[in-house]
Amino acid sequence: MRFQEVVLKHVLTEVPNRHDFAITERSVPSPDGPGSLIVENICLSLDPYIGSRLRGRHMGEPAPAPGERMPGFSVCRVIDSDAAGFAKSDWVLGEIGWASAGRIDASKVRRLDSSLPSDAHLSVLGIPGLTAWAGITQLLKIKPGDIFSVDAASGPVGATAGQLAKSLGARVIGIAGGQMKCALATDYFGFDQCIDRLAPDFAAKFAEACGAGGPTAHFENVGLSILLPAMTRLAANGRVVLCGMIEHYHADQPPMIPTGLIIGKRAQMLGLVVYDFQSRQDEWHAMAKRLLAEGRLKYLCDEVQGVHSAPEQFERLMRGANQGKCLIRFTPDR
Ligand SMILES: NC(=O)c1ccc[n+]([C@@H]2O[C@H](COP(=O)([O-])OP(=O)(O)OC[C@H]3O[C@@H](n4cnc5c(N)ncnc54)[C@H](OP(=O)(O)O)[C@@H]3O)[C@@H](O)[C@H]2O)c1
Repeated sequence: MRFQEVVLKHVLTEVPNRHDFAITERSVPSPDGPGSLIVENICLSLDPYIGSRLRGRHMGEPAPAPGERMPGFSVCRVIDSDAAGFAKSDWVLGEIGWASAGRIDASKVRRLDSSLPSDAHLSVLGIPGLTAWAGITQLLKIKPGDIFSVDAASGPVGATAGQLAKSLGARVIGIAGGQMKCALATDYFGFDQCIDRLAPDFAAKFAEACGAGGPTAHFENVGLSILLPAMTRLAANGRVVLCGMIEHYHADQPPMIPTGLIIGKRAQMLGLVVYDFQSRQDEWHAMAKRLLAEGRLKYLCDEVQGVHSAPEQFERLMRGANQGKCLIRFTPDR
């Protein structure tokens, strides 16, 4: 049996695009001794951090070398097992990269509940959801009366953060790129307002939405183009989570944080690394499942079919053109 994979063509120096990748074919390996699993991909997650990882800028992880398979986590189905406790058809979360099948060490996978949709495991119940939960409940500690702003508001982290803040009693102002994404934030995710970051009067509209007091808490996913106006409007003693800086992942210089505004506002800047909260995933899942059942938490995926679609879909994510969690679908869930 053959499977397809996507490899990096060359060392990257700019924002990645579809031409930076090549598709190759290989034979599906066999289990290589106790503890190994052969899996087929059900659904692959494409994430912004892969952009920084390609430049060797993510948590000390090396960039893949030219010719190497692209990294990434997937919901997979076991098709052959030489590992105790794993049987054919079991679902696992593991890093087989951009490939339709692969071999993986059972000690490096997490077992998944196959009664839940694979896209939920990679979005609201996966790393994006946990990131939002950590920022909202553990760092910003959102409470009733907060005025909360978040950018990339229709994406998996931003949309979950906004809905959680709303469920905790905050007034929620989203910021998103374009009218379509703003409409998603308000009409689908239930934000109170959403401001188009691409509109020429963005700063004025954002100030108007925040009111005289400004946001008491801000969740940053994008970078200085949003952080600066948000910090300028921030309420005194406001709290800010720095979650992502996607617009700077391929820049030559790191972004300059506005120290004068931090001091003047007596602001708290809180850095977020989701890996610190992975041991608390069950707490998030308990809350998420309750909110999902009550219809107070929704998620949205932007998925295309097959590994050959991954380069183009990744280019869309790197340009910010995605609408919802970026995924590659291989097989229907079951
Ligand atoms: N700290 C952590 O542990 C952690 C964990 C997970 C994710 N993150 C970060 O959280 C942020 C959101 O992640 P996500 O998975 O929810 O992403 P996402 O929202 O699906 O995609 C990123 C969004 O950023 C916006 N954007 C603005 N300027 C951009 C630019 N120059 N290039 C590309 N995108 C741009 C776009 O939305 P608009 O058009 O609406 O602006 C785009 O859709 C990312 O920065 C990510 O790296 C951090």
